[in-house]
Amino acid sequence: MEIRAEQPEDLNAIQVVNTAAFGRANEAHLVNQLRGIADTFSFVAIESQQIVGHVFFSPVIVDGAYPESLRMLGLAPLAVLPQYQRQGIGSLLIRHGLGQCAYLGYKAVMVLGYPEFYARFGFISSKRKGLTCEYSVPDDVFMVLELQDGALNGCSGTVKYRSEFNEV
Ligand SMILES: CC(C)(COP(=O)(O)OP(=O)(O)OC[C@H]1O[C@@H](n2cnc3c(N)ncnc32)[C@H](O)[C@@H]1OP(=O)(O)O)[C@@H](O)C(=O)NCCC(=O)NCCS
Repeated sequence: MEIRAEQPEDLNAIQVVNTAAFGRANEAHLVNQLRGIADTFSFVAIESQQIVGHVFFSPVIVDGAYPESLRMLGLAPLAVLPQYQRQGIGSLLIRHGLGQCAYLGYKAVMVLGYPEFYARFGFISSKRKGLTCEYSVPDDVFMVLELQDGALNGCSGTVKYRSEFNEV
């Protein structure tokens, strides 16, 4: 299993992975719209020379109070081909992506997803850090991970994704 940054020749395969994993085209379309925008990062998982998983990060902002140095990303979408799921590929993509985000100096990552799954990587309910979601979702599914201890101290407000997310 290899995890690496997206290359130009990967675009079709990434679209296939997202469409198959979500059973619809919305997330694949979102990735196509966001690709190339500043502060976006895309990683793929490769097994036997086939792209079997994908994770994407894009910028989010806090509408409220936050430290001046705060740079945050949203993790979405995360997708693994159905026949490759529950074999650890999604976890590898998350760990690799988070490592890269930390290395690049981002302070925190938000995610909207399965609480038990993301808790494995240290994500906690964003409410505990004073942050709420712009979408109407249960508290426990909107989560945050500090990549630097204390990075979210003094934060309060609503986290906003890029407007392209409103169409998903
Ligand atoms: C979610 C997803 C990316 C996980 O990838 P993966 O390679 O299967 O993940 P891993 O093998 O590393 O970990 C599996 C864990 O994912 C979580 N998970 C996967 N599907 C789940 C579901 N439908 N409901 C709740 N948790 C789920 C579970 O915690 C699972 O752990 P378990 O096998 O011990 O129950 C993959 O299942 C997928 O592409 N699903 C469809 C797309 C999707 O829903 N993406 C949104 C992610 S928030």
